Amino acid sequence: MFETLSPMPADPILGLMAKYRQDNRANKIDLGVGVYKDDAGHTPILDCVKRAEQHRIDTEESKVYIGPTGSPLFNELIAELAFGSEHSALAAKRIRSVSTPGGTGSLRVAADFIKRIKPNAVIWVSDPTWANHIGLFEAAGLTVKTYPYYDYDNKCLKFDEMLAALGQVSTDDVVLLHACCHNPSGMDLTPAQWDSICSLAKTQGFTPLIDMAYQGFGDGVDQDAYGVRKMAETVNDMILCSSCSKNFGLYRERIGACSILAKTSEAADITYSVLLYVVRCIYSMPPAHGAAIVETILGSSELKQQWLDELKVMRDRINDNRALLVNKLLEKGVTRDFGFIQEQKGMFSFLGITPSQVDTLQKEHAIYMVDSSRISIAGIANNNVDHLASAIAQVIK
Ligand code: LMR
Repeated sequence: MFETLSPMPADPILGLMAKYRQDNRANKIDLGVGVYKDDAGHTPILDCVKRAEQHRIDTEESKVYIGPTGSPLFNELIAELAFGSEHSALAAKRIRSVSTPGGTGSLRVAADFIKRIKPNAVIWVSDPTWANHIGLFEAAGLTVKTYPYYDYDNKCLKFDEMLAALGQVSTDDVVLLHACCHNPSGMDLTPAQWDSICSLAKTQGFTPLIDMAYQGFGDGVDQDAYGVRKMAETVNDMILCSSCSKNFGLYRERIGACSILAKTSEAADITYSVLLYVVRCIYSMPPAHGAAIVETILGSSELKQQWLDELKVMRDRINDNRALLVNKLLEKGVTRDFGFIQEQKGMFSFLGITPSQVDTLQKEHAIYMVDSSRISIAGIANNNVDHLASAIAQVIK
């Protein structure tokens, strides 16, 4: 059965991580995978997480099955974090959530759910989007199409083209939007642009699926959820996939959530029963550990404040790194304008160099980034920015 198989190519992001680990050069720089790093290149465990974990060890009484929904308390608190505790859709009980194994698990639940209720739905993703979105939706049997998004030449949004394309999308289709910190471009919709997209979703009748993997990494926890909250005020039905990997630093614990919004509370109950069926058929029930940590933090005003403070440290460092790189490139005499890096948000930006220049950076300078020239900004540090800027200056010369 297996003899005829040919190998799959390495994943563009995870494959790079493995390659980086094998590189023995002392001056290597990892700008590949989107994980937060401190100035020493370390991905720390947040203090609030350590405290919540200790609390869990002291108080957990059983390891019995948790059920397909995951922890009800986590589900409630994560929905409040995303939609805002005062949101009218929460008050109207139109939202239901499940805990999922990470953000990717949440997207896969959403994909299988869409396939079950609308097998012929097309899922529209931004051009470009996170590399794994396309494979993930196709693996669920959905057709994926793209709408214009990032203007590589002018380093801005193709907003008019995006609106025009979404104006053609059918009622039975789904449009994937990035809540904030667009991966891979770092180019976000402004609140006014969100307003237009929300109105369009309503008039056009497509179902928005919002992916929020970086809440709190852009401008702040509430600011980053503007589009999610506005959309939930505007449309009847939507899906939200969120992740606690980055903002709680819980990457390997695999904790995220999939929330559905329906027109009424009764419709939400029925929709939820379908969602739970889908979960049961994929992995039965989510892991509990990450959810327990997050609910302990969000359920305590003291731990929540500590988390917000620690999140701000991560956000500020990423923003400072953006400035650090742009200034260092200027210092190296680079005349090409990289100022756009400072305008963009979150973990990523495209450097805007060619795949062969990316290759040279890797081979000759031990600098790792995905072929598209997407860089993970958190990998920049005071002790590597000089090497990084010199190498970029050299390859674009
Ligand atoms: C990334 O885009 O680098 C992250 O979301 C990690 C991943 O799983 O690809």
